[in-house]
Amino acid sequence: MSDIKILLNFDRNGKTHTLDDYTQRGGYQALKQKIPQLTPAQIVQEVKTSNIRGRGGAGFPAGLKWSFLAKDTGKPVYLICNADEGEPGTFKDRLIMEENPHQLIEGIILTSYAINAKQAFIYIRGEYGLSYRRIKAAVDEAYATGLLGEKIPGTDYVPNIVVHRGAGAYVVGDETGLMNSIEGKKGFTRIKPPFPAVAGLYDCPTIINNVETLASVPWIVQNGGEAYKAIGTEKSTGTKLISVSGHIRKPGVYEITMGYPFREFLKNECGGIVGGRKLKAVIPGGSSTPVLKPEEVENMTLDYESIQAAGSSLGSGGMIIIAEGTCMVRLLKILADFYHHESCGQCTPCREGTGWLAQIITRIENGKGRPEDLEEIPRISRFIYGYTICPLGDAACGPVDSFLKKFRNEFEEHIEKQRCPYGEKFTRFQELSK
Ligand SMILES: Cc1cc2nc3c(=O)[nH]c(=O)nc-3n(C[C@H](O)[C@H](O)[C@H](O)COP(=O)(O)O)c2cc1C
Ligand code: SF4
Repeated sequence: MSDIKILLNFDRNGKTHTLDDYTQRGGYQALKQKIPQLTPAQIVQEVKTSNIRGRGGAGFPAGLKWSFLAKDTGKPVYLICNADEGEPGTFKDRLIMEENPHQLIEGIILTSYAINAKQAFIYIRGEYGLSYRRIKAAVDEAYATGLLGEKIPGTDYVPNIVVHRGAGAYVVGDETGLMNSIEGKKGFTRIKPPFPAVAGLYDCPTIINNVETLASVPWIVQNGGEAYKAIGTEKSTGTKLISVSGHIRKPGVYEITMGYPFREFLKNECGGIVGGRKLKAVIPGGSSTPVLKPEEVENMTLDYESIQAAGSSLGSGGMIIIAEGTCMVRLLKILADFYHHESCGQCTPCREGTGWLAQIITRIENGKGRPEDLEEIPRISRFIYGYTICPLGDAACGPVDSFLKKFRNEFEEHIEKQRCPYGEKFTRFQELSK
């Protein structure tokens, strides 16, 4: 793996979250050296050239999104940093907020300047207590030292950031739900179009980007879009944070260069599978991305194209490694319960469908499944896909369909034996690591 580190370019010394430490590491140099040399339009162009794709899950090119902003509307423009990070398996933004919050703030200032935002917001997942405290303290430091709230030297632009804490709803990670939440409304998602870049927060043009996307901006501005583009693969440029959990020796957050082989990642960074067990499955990009079997990840590399070719998606980079001995029905039950619990209930297919899916999968796991359940599950899923307001409905079906397709024999065995063949054994990490 190439050694380049853009987001985790520090040794943890307990102080990396402070302004002093960040400045000593060369922080705020992009802001101080490159502005006003670079006009807002030039910064947008550098980010476009870098071809960085949004790290929140959908992988939409950031520079392109910025250029969609409605122009001359007479309304203010807003920037929102999406720090809601609620997808099971995903915990990479948390590390940036806890350990490197000033890099995120610098990225937000540069982006605000580039898109001429009147006001920026950081919307933090409610359960992330330390992230909130670190970000709040870093924003306070930035105000106290004039990095925020005062004109950027050589310009008339004044950056401002408001930190907003969520209240624990996964669906509010969706950009439209998030905007409603900031507006003080119930966290219901909105139908698109209009897209936020045209009519977003308070009906004004709004750009929403993920923490990791925005924290990459200082490096791009400092080193240039071409330099960023030279890292990684042709279509997946730069580095990516992977938060990896499950049955591995070294769970955590790793910054990899796009294109890094999965097998090397599993061996080198993850330290292999606990208990010397074999790999059974991989959820590569957060719980909504389809599960992959060992033969599908054999030659897979960690980038958008390769994971897509393997049949799944890089998503947010929240990887879950599953070892032999794990009951896939029980695992799916946990995921199905999550999506049912998090459905906001606005649309019938998702509100009812996720509940039915969770009920049926639970029934199978509890030894009360019926053969016809295996036809009922995909039928319900078909009525959810594409018939909902927001992608949560589709996200709920991703694991259901792929688990059933790839591990159908386990569902059949549960129904045939009228019990879970795994029992309590080997389904928990502690058991497996013995
Ligand atoms: C149910 C749901 C939850 C989401 N949660 C998050 C999240 O926690 N963080 C995030 O950045 N994007 C999340 N997204 C994606 C956002 O809607 C949006 O695409 C993203 O913040 C854009 O940032 P990016 O272009 O930098 O990736 C979620 C989407 C859905 C449908
Ligand atoms: S898909 Fe589900 S979460 Fe999204 S709006 Fe509909 S009910 Fe709510």
